[in-house]
Amino acid sequence: MKKPARIDTSDGLPVAEVGEWSVELKHRLLREYVDATWGVRSKYQHRGYVDLFSGPGRVEVKTTGQIVDGSSLIAWRASAGSKAPYTSVIVADSDRESTEACDTRLKRAGCMPRTLVGEARETSRKAAAELDRFGLHLVFLDPYNLKALPFSVFEAFFERDLRHVDFIVHFSANDLQRNLDSFLAEETSIMDDFVPGWRAHVTMRARDQMRGTTFWYWVSLFEKHGFQIAKEAPLIRGGTRQPLYWLVLLSRHPLAANIWNSVADKSPQGSFGF
Ligand SMILES: C[S@@+](CC[C@H](N)C(=O)[O-])C[C@H]1O[C@@H](n2cnc3c(N)ncnc32)[C@H](O)[C@@H]1O
Repeated sequence: MKKPARIDTSDGLPVAEVGEWSVELKHRLLREYVDATWGVRSKYQHRGYVDLFSGPGRVEVKTTGQIVDGSSLIAWRASAGSKAPYTSVIVADSDRESTEACDTRLKRAGCMPRTLVGEARETSRKAAAELDRFGLHLVFLDPYNLKALPFSVFEAFFERDLRHVDFIVHFSANDLQRNLDSFLAEETSIMDDFVPGWRAHVTMRARDQMRGTTFWYWVSLFEKHGFQIAKEAPLIRGGTRQPLYWLVLLSRHPLAANIWNSVADKSPQGSFGF
């Protein structure tokens, strides 16, 4: 997906261009997860949805030209159609034009979002500060690459000591695969921010093994904070079936993982196999 340039003639606002795969699977999983968790949400007075890579809120599918909702609109509408709508929606993006379009679209859809402009490493702190500590919150993180998602983004939520927060994360298999060798060779690399301490845990060996070790070490950083990764982690593939990213759920409560697993095991694309 690129910086939005095209306009959705139905609302006069910019859209971002995406490959079909992300609409078909990523958005379906998000919608179904928000739908399926309404009962759990209904037990909480404060229910937050945070999207730190929101884009403009509508996307144009490259292959078909069809324009559909993006992640934050999907999550909001799915919750608004349930008995437990989100009480707090926080959207952010590093691209100002995108955040403004997303803000306008959410407002037109009946939501009153808190909208931030900036990189996730900064907006994560502001977003975490706005969430009720005892509410139930879903944080959706959908960056283009590993660089945009330093571990400090998660730490912002851990440090706030939120009791009930779940993360759905786009983990770029593509980026990891392409760059692991060069990351190792460089003295400092984006991996130091993405998965702090990795050098002590990942050693030079076959690429597949290195990928697996890095991934599981990243997961172990969550385990230190009481989070588990859900068993189902659908692999989103590109137009030529190349692996692009896994969509993973990290949560403390097994119920979140159970719901995610039941939604995600319908995925035709398969899970990771380390
Ligand atoms: C994959 S797109 C998000 C798509 C959106 N979640 C959806 O489904 O409609 C990634 C977005 O991240 C934004 N972005 C890139 N680097 C960023 C960063 N470091 N922090 C926050 N946003 C960033 C881009 O402007 C782009 O809108």
